[in-house]
Amino acid sequence: MKQQQLIDRLGRVHNNLRISVTDRCNIRCFYCMPNEAIQFKPRDELLTFEEITRVVSVAAARGVNRLRITGGEPLVRAELPDLISRLAEIEGIEDIALTTNGVLLADQAAALYQAGLSRLNISLDGLQEETFQRITRREGLQRVLDGIFTARQVGFEKIRLNAVAIQGITEEEIIPLAHFARTHAFELRFIEFMPLDSEQRWETSQVLTGAVIRDVLEAEFGALVPAERPDPSQPAVDYDFADGKGSVGFINPVSQPFCSACNRLRITAEGQFRNCLFSTVEWDARQLLRGGGSDEDLAQLLHDCVDHKQPGHGIDSPGFEKPERPMYQIGG
Ligand code: 5AD
Ligand code: SF4
Repeated sequence: MKQQQLIDRLGRVHNNLRISVTDRCNIRCFYCMPNEAIQFKPRDELLTFEEITRVVSVAAARGVNRLRITGGEPLVRAELPDLISRLAEIEGIEDIALTTNGVLLADQAAALYQAGLSRLNISLDGLQEETFQRITRREGLQRVLDGIFTARQVGFEKIRLNAVAIQGITEEEIIPLAHFARTHAFELRFIEFMPLDSEQRWETSQVLTGAVIRDVLEAEFGALVPAERPDPSQPAVDYDFADGKGSVGFINPVSQPFCSACNRLRITAEGQFRNCLFSTVEWDARQLLRGGGSDEDLAQLLHDCVDHKQPGHGIDSPGFEKPERPMYQIGG
């Protein structure tokens, strides 16, 4: 029998769980990680695949039906396809997506597809190696591009390219990215740079807003046509290009917060539930998992986490408190 759903004080029904499987990464995007001297979590603190599977079973019985695997970079976690196939078998799970930087994707795409992964989001902030290096402080654009095309080849139909939009960097990549996505029929989304970096570089003035990017695209391709919204909780606002060839989406957490429709919960790699990217509080599932807690106890913890969800992140309000954890320790 289905248990009580994860509904918060504002009536938001949480059916979406984002699972971070590692805080490690093979590149160093400045909007997420420091360049050096990073303290990664010891491996024995990370949830095992058995523990993750148990958490998901409990969540699935309470209405969670969509999962997203994140990191750090999830593909640096050993045997990831094994986890995907275990999660795909859990009753109630309908959709499993993965967010990756693409660097290791060419090697793993086939195994991930066979394991039952439904969808891929690949970070692609630009098409010039120079842009890649400015952002990631590493080399590797070509490997990412190989990963993207390999994913298509092995059968992934829905491939979305995510570009973080940053003042002074993204402007010259907008049109090339749009041509690339249109030519190869990839979905493209621009995400406003959020205050989740670890080098304190974020300022409002560094955010290139979705509205500005839209203007640039309309000047090149003609008016963008608002697309239908099959899922009102999706954070992106999507548009079709006027000639019907492809679409582009905008995730505008800074200029247009979408918290009122948020249906997401998160669990960090070391087993802490969070009700928001910007949470300052966490609920410790690992302690229960390793301390003999029952499924009921885990469910209660999830309900507590949901009950404490705030109406919004308040990035634009004067009292905004930046979360202690940067992006790589939360999972996008
Ligand atoms: N602001 C916006 N997006 C970010 N990402 C990582 N850090 C930030 C940030 N500070 C994105 C990455 C990737 C996903 C993991 O989250 O580009 O697409
Ligand atoms: Fe790595 Fe993703 Fe963070 Fe970039 S955004 S450093 S790829 S975890």
